[in-house]
Amino acid sequence: MSKILVTGGCGYIGAHTIVDLIENGFEVISADNNSRSNENILDAVEKITGKAVKNYKVDLCIYDDTFAIFQENPDITGIIHFAAYKAVGESVEKPLLYFENNLNSLINILKCADEFSVPNFVFSSSCTVYGNPDAIPVTEETPMKPAESAYGATKQMGEKIVSDAVNANTNNAILLRYFNPVGAHPSTLMGETPLGKPQNLVPAITQTAIGKLPGMKVWGNDYETKDGSCVRDYIHVCDIAHAHTLALNYLLEGRNQRNCEVFNLGTGDGLTVLEIINSFEKISGVKLNYEIGPRRSGDVVAIYANNDKAKNLLGWNPKYNLQDMMATAWKWELKLKEHENLFNSSNAALN
Ligand code: WQD
Repeated sequence: MSKILVTGGCGYIGAHTIVDLIENGFEVISADNNSRSNENILDAVEKITGKAVKNYKVDLCIYDDTFAIFQENPDITGIIHFAAYKAVGESVEKPLLYFENNLNSLINILKCADEFSVPNFVFSSSCTVYGNPDAIPVTEETPMKPAESAYGATKQMGEKIVSDAVNANTNNAILLRYFNPVGAHPSTLMGETPLGKPQNLVPAITQTAIGKLPGMKVWGNDYETKDGSCVRDYIHVCDIAHAHTLALNYLLEGRNQRNCEVFNLGTGDGLTVLEIINSFEKISGVKLNYEIGPRRSGDVVAIYANNDKAKNLLGWNPKYNLQDMMATAWKWELKLKEHENLFNSSNAALN
């Protein structure tokens, strides 16, 4: 059984990917310092898969602590590197925090992968690397534009660092460019739990719908799009997760043509913000309280994926549709509320 190290394994995409890896026969360990995540998501992973996953609560920016994980697990055959800060707005305010955290952790992991001859590496990248593309849908060959944020810059630099590292030591890597991951595991045992006020669209919608937020803004409806709001490619988190399993198998079976290959992970459908809201209202039966606000700086007008390469080479076929994305996101928000009520009522009972 191949042992895989998942960094950022307690995060939204990381934990969903661990579930998929285990369900496909992999042994998994996690490394996550829980600075922006909660280890109890691994309890949900165990409930879903029946497997307990060990998490090394380590700051990957500390080389010696990172090295110790590999010393204890010399049989790691692959690494999936999620661990990074990812709030676009925060990265504009605190660029050095993002460059230090996202790049130092990546370099340490790559150095250890080389030291311990771990042959396979999957890097969590993002459609953010394309910036505002001249033509859509974007293929993997679409040129990168200057990053609109430090977050986007760390993904562009991260791809370059990974590519140069594996070309130098003849290891293998895959760069996965996620579009907009949304939704929750169909078991409703885990999903997205944004820290503080959600920046991303779907958690902002579900928190508004459940009353956690008094309302939300649609950031601009005067763009050159079908209804004036921005276009994105929303993809279910479980489809994103399964792509990581397929990418590892592609490398483990030696099917890669080059040391480092890139794949877009999107549905190939571009939907506007207002279309997402409309779809959510239909699925949930809740009329959403939103108003049109000003444009958000750094927003890309429109982007969606050409996903032929992942389909043809990885055998990847997204199976969740827009209704599934909205329904699972909403069910997860309802579950969180139920837990909160239970917690409050049990606390009330104790007082
Ligand atoms: C989508 C659209 C907003 C909130 C994300 C991740 C990034 C990367 C790509 C993985 C935009 C609008 C949002 C709100 C709104 N993914 N919106 N009101 O900016 O495309 O980036 O996907 O790496 O890490 O951040 O996603 O969900 O923030 O915004 O109108 O309250 O929804 O203006 O047009 P984005 P998002």
